[in-house]
Amino acid sequence: MNQVPALTVVTGGAQGIGMAVAMLLVSAGRPVVLVDMNAEALAQAQTALAALGGGQVTTRVLDVRDAAATPACARDIEATIGPVEALVTCAGTTRSSAAATMPLDDWNLVLDINLTGTFLSCQAFAAAMLHRGRGAIVTITSVSGTGGQAGRANYVASKWGVIGLTKTLAIEWGHRGVRVNAVAPGPINTTLYAKVPEAFREGVIRERTPLGRPAESSEVAGTIAFLLSAQASYINGSVLTVDGGFSAGYATQHGGADLAT
Ligand SMILES: NC(=O)c1ccc[n+]([C@@H]2O[C@H](COP(=O)([O-])OP(=O)(O)OC[C@H]3O[C@@H](n4cnc5c(N)ncnc54)[C@H](O)[C@@H]3O)[C@@H](O)[C@H]2O)c1
Repeated sequence: MNQVPALTVVTGGAQGIGMAVAMLLVSAGRPVVLVDMNAEALAQAQTALAALGGGQVTTRVLDVRDAAATPACARDIEATIGPVEALVTCAGTTRSSAAATMPLDDWNLVLDINLTGTFLSCQAFAAAMLHRGRGAIVTITSVSGTGGQAGRANYVASKWGVIGLTKTLAIEWGHRGVRVNAVAPGPINTTLYAKVPEAFREGVIRERTPLGRPAESSEVAGTIAFLLSAQASYINGSVLTVDGGFSAGYATQHGGADLAT
């Protein structure tokens, strides 16, 4: 943690995994800028983080789908707060339905926020990092980016896309001093996860997650902070899975019928 870069921008930082990363960094005395489209949640998060008495917390309201506002926000943060040395792209959403009848609006919404929003954020905040020749970026994919998943064609496609994007940026930017890695969480207790139908969530835990429980956001935050830090100085283009063993096996059925029962 000592060597986590100075100013970190966290998109989708008003709650969930982004807020947990911010909490970890601020507690360690690091300044953080929370960027989110939810102004109310952003204000609450800033109050909660300020109460920790650690690093300075600033906020910016931004929809990461906005191709004009996102680079403008990055330039504003550089000019008024300071050089951004790290970026974590947590802004994301989900909207589930069967692929055969999935409305195009739902497909576009999830791809626009999860994939295009990640691309725009990386492009906007990396500009100054590339100019200085120093920076670290962590994107958030998912175990849904490593296989198919019924009812989530849009989400799965977006998370596969984030992995491809991350690896490509790692190749384009690594030799220019900017490392880019992804974290792939399994089930994490957040408002986003609560949007997934309950029966599905129960099945994921009962049948697919060897640790037998969802994680708290704080359990992902440490992995993200590690990837930003100097301790990860040779990690570039990697996808680090934090899923309680969800993706460890191809025929996992905990509490159900498998060859060990
Ligand atoms: N919770 C899980 O089980 C889980 C698992 C794997 C991956 N993820 C990924 O982790 C990331 C964070 O998710 P979370 O679970 O913390 O969700 P969350 O809903 O708690 O937080 C997401 C945040 O993103 C913000 N946001 C959404 N759209 C935005 C936009 N267009 N512009 C700016 N901000 C926007 C929301 O306002 C919210 O504050 C997402 O990319 C999600 O897909 C979550």
